[in-house]
Amino acid sequence: MCGIVGFVGRKEASPILVEGLSKLEYRGYDSAGVAILEDGEIKVKKYKGRLKNLEENLNENPLKGHIGIGHTRWATHGEPSDINSHPHSNGDVTISVVHNGIIENYIKLKEWLKTKGYTFCSDTDTEVIPNLVDYYYKGDLFEAVTKATSKMEGSYAIGVISKEEPDKIVAVRKDSPLIVGVGEGEYFIASDIPAVLNHTREVYLLEDKEFVILTKDGVEIKTEDGEKIDKEIYHVTWDVDAAEKGGYEDFMLKEIHEQPKAIKDTLTSRVLKDTKVQLDDINLTKEELENFDRVFIVACGTAYHAGLVGKTIIEKLAKIPVEVDIASEFRYRDPLITEKSLLIVVSQSGETADTLAVLRDAKKTGAKVIAITNVVGSSVSREAHHVLYTWAGPEIAVASTKAYETQLIAMYILGIYFGELKGTLNKEVSEELKEELLILPDKVKEILDKKDELQKYASKNYMDKDLFFLGRGLDYAVALEGSLKLKEISYIHSEAYAGGELKHGPIALIEKGTPVIALLTEDKLKDKMISNIREVVTRGARVLAIANEGDKDAKEVCDDVIYIPRTNSLLTPVLSVVPLQLISYYMAKQKGCDVDKPRNLAKSVTVE
Ligand code: F6R
Repeated sequence: MCGIVGFVGRKEASPILVEGLSKLEYRGYDSAGVAILEDGEIKVKKYKGRLKNLEENLNENPLKGHIGIGHTRWATHGEPSDINSHPHSNGDVTISVVHNGIIENYIKLKEWLKTKGYTFCSDTDTEVIPNLVDYYYKGDLFEAVTKATSKMEGSYAIGVISKEEPDKIVAVRKDSPLIVGVGEGEYFIASDIPAVLNHTREVYLLEDKEFVILTKDGVEIKTEDGEKIDKEIYHVTWDVDAAEKGGYEDFMLKEIHEQPKAIKDTLTSRVLKDTKVQLDDINLTKEELENFDRVFIVACGTAYHAGLVGKTIIEKLAKIPVEVDIASEFRYRDPLITEKSLLIVVSQSGETADTLAVLRDAKKTGAKVIAITNVVGSSVSREAHHVLYTWAGPEIAVASTKAYETQLIAMYILGIYFGELKGTLNKEVSEELKEELLILPDKVKEILDKKDELQKYASKNYMDKDLFFLGRGLDYAVALEGSLKLKEISYIHSEAYAGGELKHGPIALIEKGTPVIALLTEDKLKDKMISNIREVVTRGARVLAIANEGDKDAKEVCDDVIYIPRTNSLLTPVLSVVPLQLISYYMAKQKGCDVDKPRNLAKSVTVE
């Protein structure tokens, strides 16, 4: 749940580490620190709060040196504080470590190290690592790190420096992401590619338990036993601008505006008119597909909401029963998953701990797994049997927008692919869906142009304490996503209800002036939904409808209407979510919230 970086080269390490950390703040931002080898000694600076605290301090009292490690934290063990911030060191600061992950057996290790005379000053699990490395250090840092990690249970990506070997960083990962950047005479480690992109496009995507030794002369990758590993370099093709704000006020606004491109990129070469859907990394046979008696879609948060839409799509197009569940619930409810099941995990980051655990448990039962993910080389992409990448590009804002849109697109692609393979989808319907999918990017652009209307609604309502979202069918799935977006970035309390559920309790919450956003895009459920809207209007609610272009009824019953372009009814979620994202964004901005980094949240939840 943190970001780590490391640098070895001829330049000053400190500004490079800070710049790298700024690209990783999405992984956590409650404290930050660096450790630099300065004149043969390890010097550490680490502070609670945003990265700028560290940066300001380094500007006033610079650390000089060409090798260093850095960390941006999202607290798990021990509250955010200077002491609990990383890097952590052994008592006499001969070894320093940055760590992303959780050492599950740290209490046992700590007690054991105490019996050997070691002392501890923080509440973190991480502090055992430099002490363990110290215990095993007999003149070879690589060997000491391999011995220390062999005792560690849990997840980790670590970077280690030692004053005894002041020319190197030793790093390794297990169940937490880590890449190595290869520059000219300079080398980097980082939790994610954007942290090194200003310096190099050549990276190694490390696998679990691959140890790397970085010096200014190069990078060696080795197994635990010291055997050399030859690894292919991965060339990053996307631009560094793709990970920066590009003129927008916030990453979230930029990412909302990138949705037309993200949708187009995700469709490209997969969905073409008059051609069956082609997928590079999924090669199921008709027999294999027919053998599945059930599909499970499992994910967390926004990705789960995309799964809810996926259920309707796959059941309708491929006629296979689909269950959707939240990963943290699914993994502990003894699900009836067998070798006849197909599991689809959905994860933007590909590193979400609960989703990854479900994937691993499912594989043990013999189930087949498809991963829908946005991050090439992420854990879910490597461990699943098949992968469908969403090509949304890096998503930096904590609140997911373009990744959600592309997860929806992935669901349509899979639904059509399954339907065509099984023969449950007739050509006419499939062609109509493909044609509509291909023009969705332009329709999303039309909604983005309604910015002024949405901003106006937001400025009228941003002081509200509660807001309710209503919808039926696919509109209900989108209502859930709209409600999550609003609460996570604007801190306005909100709930989403299925229209038909209102009378079973929630309508008691409606009183004069209660704001309601009603989704009204499902043609076949429209009359029912209009009745539900009337029920809340009668009790004093102020209703904004999201409705299909030309829908006069919406105008008659609701106070305000935002129209979205018409499309095939199965595809409306891709359009109807966009005004909800923008309303949340503008409400949060009006309230003065930090939309890119909402309180208490981290982008990538790599711990349970
Ligand atoms: C909400 C949001 C989260 C993520 C969830 C899963 O805007 O971004 O709810 O969707 O943490 O993350 P991934 O998709 O990386 O598994």
